[in-house]
Amino acid sequence: MNLAGPSVCTVHRPADAASIAAAARLLRDGRLVAFPTETVYGLGADATNAAAIARLYAAKGRPSFNPLIAHVGDAETAMREGSFSTVAQKLAASFWPGPLTLVVPVAETTRICDLARAGLRSVGLRVPAHPIAHALLAEAGRPIAAPSANRSGHVSPVTADHVIDDLGEKIDLVLNGGATNVGIESTIIACLDNRPRLLRPGGIAREPIEAVLGEPLALLDDGAVGGPIAPGMLALHYAPRAALRVDAKALEAGEAGLDFGGRFARGKHVLDLSPRGDTVEAAANLYSYLRRLDASGVETIAVAPIPAEGLGEAIRDRLRRAAAPR
Ligand code: TXA
Ligand code: MG
Repeated sequence: MNLAGPSVCTVHRPADAASIAAAARLLRDGRLVAFPTETVYGLGADATNAAAIARLYAAKGRPSFNPLIAHVGDAETAMREGSFSTVAQKLAASFWPGPLTLVVPVAETTRICDLARAGLRSVGLRVPAHPIAHALLAEAGRPIAAPSANRSGHVSPVTADHVIDDLGEKIDLVLNGGATNVGIESTIIACLDNRPRLLRPGGIAREPIEAVLGEPLALLDDGAVGGPIAPGMLALHYAPRAALRVDAKALEAGEAGLDFGGRFARGKHVLDLSPRGDTVEAAANLYSYLRRLDASGVETIAVAPIPAEGLGEAIRDRLRRAAAPR
């Protein structure tokens, strides 16, 4: 096998049993395969194979101090890789399969290599709810590390075409499952001490999580945990080429508009995330619309105010990072 040679990227439209089996073989051989999850497309590599993980960091241009999420087929498998407190088990039982990542202490029995965990003693685990991801994990028979399948720092991909645009020549295969339905990355919760903490708002809103916990969900910096436990939470992230002006009440001359709830005047470069003001719909449209407005060539994209409820918390988080000074 020649891992150094140029790779040929094949897109299967749509992914079928044969292409999923081929993808699983590639993964077991240490190659890179992009696949759909319910949140965004992931760039997968065998989490137990350090050489494959090194290749993945290189393809993405991602710093190797930023740990990867390991995807597994079910909660039972996750519990072999990580050590789950009662609360972590409760969250897993309530939201898996689904857009929730749990960061837990790594288990003695883990197969996930140090490099995939960026050397941390914790591990991020997720059971995705997508039939193609599920079938791929079953065929691969091992945890698959998968960051979002975009160049590091760029907007996450929600279609196979987005993956090709960003990484086409660097990966071996893309399984095409059409547009993802949640559209924004998983919610990440650390269960490392007696209090679960939100590391990244995402596809499951705070409200249903707090309903399960029976208490408010603490943030990363609310006390106890010391040190940078979420090394990936870099300020500039999810960034389009154009500058972003958030919480804009109206469009200024020359700006493109990313609207919410029909606030801006209609125009050639105005897209409404959800004319009816629904944050779930807005999350599903966010990254595609950012890419489309970016492609129009404007210098600035004005973004209408998004309410902080429901998936609005995650959308606001991504927009704030995309708008950070470069
Ligand atoms: O929805 C998602 O989560 C997608 C799909 C493909 O599953 N994946 C994704 O991965 O968004 P990525 O690599 O783009 O973001 C994962 C985040 C990073 O910010 C990383 O720092 C954090 O998870 N993370 C992973 N393991 C961690 C750990 N042990 N401790 C703290 N943060 C961790
Ligand atoms: Mg990402």
